[in-house]
Amino acid sequence: MTVGAVAHGGHCVARAAGRVLFVRHALPGERVVVEVTEVGRRGRFLRADAVEVLEAAPGRREPPCPVAASCGGCDWQHATPEASRALKTAVVREALERFAGITLPASFAVAAVADPGQPGRDDGLGWRTRGALAVGVDGRAGFRAPRSHAVVAGGTCPQLHPALAPVGLLERAWPPGARVGFVAPAQGPPSAHVRVGDPVQGRAGASRAAAGAGARAVGAGSPGGEGEVPTVVEWAAGRPWQVAADGFWQVHPGAADALVGHVRRMLAPAPGERLVDLYAGVGLFGLSLAAPLHGALRVTLVEGDRRACELAGRNAASDPPASSQRQAIRTGDATSAQAPAVDVVRAPVDRWVGRRGALDGVDLVVLDPPRAGAGPAVVEAVAAARPRAIAYVACDPVALARDLAAISASGYRLVELVGLDLFPTTHHVECVAHLAPA
Ligand SMILES: C[S@@+](CC[C@H](N)C(=O)[O-])C[C@H]1O[C@@H](n2cnc3c(N)ncnc32)[C@H](O)[C@@H]1O
Repeated sequence: MTVGAVAHGGHCVARAAGRVLFVRHALPGERVVVEVTEVGRRGRFLRADAVEVLEAAPGRREPPCPVAASCGGCDWQHATPEASRALKTAVVREALERFAGITLPASFAVAAVADPGQPGRDDGLGWRTRGALAVGVDGRAGFRAPRSHAVVAGGTCPQLHPALAPVGLLERAWPPGARVGFVAPAQGPPSAHVRVGDPVQGRAGASRAAAGAGARAVGAGSPGGEGEVPTVVEWAAGRPWQVAADGFWQVHPGAADALVGHVRRMLAPAPGERLVDLYAGVGLFGLSLAAPLHGALRVTLVEGDRRACELAGRNAASDPPASSQRQAIRTGDATSAQAPAVDVVRAPVDRWVGRRGALDGVDLVVLDPPRAGAGPAVVEAVAAARPRAIAYVACDPVALARDLAAISASGYRLVELVGLDLFPTTHHVECVAHLAPA
């Protein structure tokens, strides 16, 4: 069959015998032989893989990885980096039109992001500095197959950053059933942390012996305990950041700086303003924007994860320009007599924004929610506080578009949308939206 346009999720849409097919490993316009892999709910749609290309699109390339067709770690290795960015541009454009009624300008295009440690590299490979692999019954680690628990241990993964090589992630034997987290931080050696699953008892346990040299076993269910994953030092916005080895940090080495640059440009914070960073992680956006203003920007970081909050507190305290500022970590609604310049609040964002006075006097908001988006209650509460600018960082264009629809209905307009290719060889795309009162 000839497949049509690309859809959210990375597959091309095709039609046959009155049914819709979602075809992986194809490019729009290609004529391919497909193999049906799954019948969707009530037979309304089919999932399929292109197994033979009869007429290739100009953007096709030979996948650099021998297991590209079976591994869930990449789904667009068959597209050149340029073709893949063009597809992402089309997906974002369609999502905003369909779910938010917003037509992006013709100039909108998803941009490549360089790895400062590998300048000039543009093969879309070698960018993943952190993540987790599953271990199969044979003790070999790999990503899982798409929509499956099967582990694809091909012994090679060109998506992994070359700095991870000394860990031997794919060469070593790991405890079967384990989950192997890995990180190549900006500073210090790369490492792996192993959570050992017990296939018989169904419990997770720790095995120091199982981890071996260069890796560390981690006891599941022991937050703060001996088995806690260590912190690593990342680098962004000209300063170091303490991050848990398995905590949230952008995986592409150029991502954090690129995102901070866009958020800073869009919000242009001024002395005396108040910035609220929602889903703050270890404080990347709030603290980066505060630093040049030497305490003259009041910042509230709101984050739900205990460890990330602790590290955000440490990052705020070790921030050279902010070291003289008062800084507090709060849980719940405790208030200090003097409002600190950097305030780290551990709370679910959806509950915190509903608290009386939480967003009072806010000038600037950063929203960087997980994949599902912030949701209408959060964006409506933010819009009701009337900040002069909002930067929304999104890793799912459809979730972003839904939230943009809600925020547009609350009196905000999209000023600019930036698309960044932070996950080459996959269909994933990062966007940063600048919103201002309509
Ligand atoms: C995409 S990450 C962004 C982190 C940070 N802005 C950064 O760039 O490093 C999303 C963060 O939101 C946190 N999170 C997820 N759901 C949350 C919720 N309902 N309330 C508060 N924080 C939440 C996660 O722990 C994670 O740190």
